[in-house]
Amino acid sequence: AFVPTMGNLHEGHLKLVDAARAEADRVVVSIFVNPLQFGANEDIAAYPRTARQDGELLQQRGADLLFLPTVAEIYPAGKEAVAFVEVPRISNILCGTSRPGHFRGVTTVVAKLFNMVQPDVAIFGEKDLQQLIAIQRMVSDLNFPIKIVGVAIMRESDGLAMSSRNSYLSGSERTVAPQLNKIVAGLAKKVANNAGDLLQLEQQAVTEINAAGFKSEYVAIRSTVDLSEPAAGERQLTILVAAWLGSTRLIDNMAVCLD
Ligand code: PAF
Repeated sequence: AFVPTMGNLHEGHLKLVDAARAEADRVVVSIFVNPLQFGANEDIAAYPRTARQDGELLQQRGADLLFLPTVAEIYPAGKEAVAFVEVPRISNILCGTSRPGHFRGVTTVVAKLFNMVQPDVAIFGEKDLQQLIAIQRMVSDLNFPIKIVGVAIMRESDGLAMSSRNSYLSGSERTVAPQLNKIVAGLAKKVANNAGDLLQLEQQAVTEINAAGFKSEYVAIRSTVDLSEPAAGERQLTILVAAWLGSTRLIDNMAVCLD
C-alpha cells in the first residue's frame, strides 16, 4: 500500500500509514514537495521540510519504505515540458478556482508516483476531499489497477482539522482557527434540519466565517459523489470551505447527515 505525502508529517498522515498497514503487507510512503502543484503566488521554498523527523515517525509507525525522490528524478526534462494528467470539471471548481493548475499538478505527480511505486492500494486523507475525488476519477478513467482508500479527517481536540499549514498560524490565529470547524458543523446541522435555502445557508456561513476573523474564500454545499451543485432532493451532501486566517489558507469539509 502506498501513502504519497509532501512530508512535514503529523498524526493525520500517520493515520494514513495505519490504514495502509491494514490494507497490505508492505507500506511505502513517499515524500515529495511537488513544484507542479504550487502556483506562481505560492511559496514552495517556505514549505516545511522535516525529512529526518518524518523518517523517524514513519519507522515508529511501521512503514517499510520511504521514497524520497528529487525534483530531477520526477521531472528529468524540467517541469515545464512534462506530459500531464488532468481530470476535467473537478479540477477547476472550488479550490481549483483560486489555485489554477493545482489539481493538474497533483494528478500528474500522483500518476507518476503510481507508475514508479506500482502499489495495489493507495491511501489519501479526506481533508483534501477534492483531491481525493480527482484521484478516484483519474484512476477509474485511466484504468490504474489501484484501489483508492480515503481516510477520515483527523482533528485536534478543539476540532481544527490537522494540516501541515497549521504550523504557519500565530498563537492568536491558532485560537481562532477551530471556529472554522464549528461554523461548518453548525451549517451541517442547519442543512440536515432543512433550515433554509442552501444558497442562503452558504451565505450565512460566509458572514459567520468573516465575522470570526477569517477571510472566506468559499462555502459550498455539494453532492458528495462528484462535488457538483446538488440536484433537488439530493441526499448525499458535503459542505466544503476554504478561508484565510492571516496569510494561512485553511480548508475543511463535513458530510451532512440526512436520514
Ligand atoms: O496531499 C498531498 O500531500 C499532495 O497533494 C500529494 C497527494 C502527495 C501529491 O503531491
